Amino acid sequence: MKPRSIVVLTGAGISAESGVPTFRGPDGLWEGHRVEDVATPEAFFRNPDRVHAFYDARRARLAEVEPNAAHKALGMLDARWPGDLLIVTQNVDDLHERGGARRLLHMHGRLKSARCLACDARLDWEGPLAHRPPCPACGAAGRLRPDIVWFGEMPYDMDRIDRALARADLFVAIGTSGQVYPAAGFVEDARAAGAYCIELNLEPSDVSFRFHECRLGRASELVPALVDELVA
Ligand code: OAD
Repeated sequence: MKPRSIVVLTGAGISAESGVPTFRGPDGLWEGHRVEDVATPEAFFRNPDRVHAFYDARRARLAEVEPNAAHKALGMLDARWPGDLLIVTQNVDDLHERGGARRLLHMHGRLKSARCLACDARLDWEGPLAHRPPCPACGAAGRLRPDIVWFGEMPYDMDRIDRALARADLFVAIGTSGQVYPAAGFVEDARAAGAYCIELNLEPSDVSFRFHECRLGRASELVPALVDELVA
């Protein structure tokens, strides 16, 4: 396998071994919450306290988790890959950055970012939002929301992602259940562009059959092995 242009898509499964809960399945984040109570614009306008509490807790928890071998392997790939590379994550944690990834897009937003509903600024953010701090950009009070793409909203950076998929010759999906579009459809776009498509996941995803190759196991083992093959 000698690709020139690689697109990697990651989901919650890559952070599971760092102790960040996935969304679906037993112990999943959605088990204890109704999606429509914490992950829609309507939920935020109906009950901002509940939504802020949910994301403030997840943001605070980032201080307690560390990147695992899979994040670090992708960081190494980023440092050593001479061709095109785009790592697209659906995750809102910061473990890819801390694992060394630079050519990275957060298509579903970031916990460590806030967005102002008054001026639309997107601001790096470390602390809580529940106490309604003013926007550092425009000064508006109580208008900051978590910079997370909720259900019914448009993911970020789709133009750049579409362009990268159109010229990819290797597409790798890691730790994602294939249940949420548009990310679940990237494999189709990559295939249409002629890319070889590999899925790395603990179990077959909903879209496994669309890949040329599926490797089952833990991301912390499968990702370093694949990166070794690529940079060898
Ligand atoms: P899911 O929770 O739906 O799926 C996680 C996937 O990771 C499953 O297929 C697991 O089998 C797999 N997995 C778990 N542990 C693993 C491990 N150690 N190694 C490899 N794979 C493992 O998470 P996502 O597919 O990321 O969106 O969910 C997609 C989107 O749905 C999220 O970004 C979020 C959610 O609603 C928004 O909030 C907008």
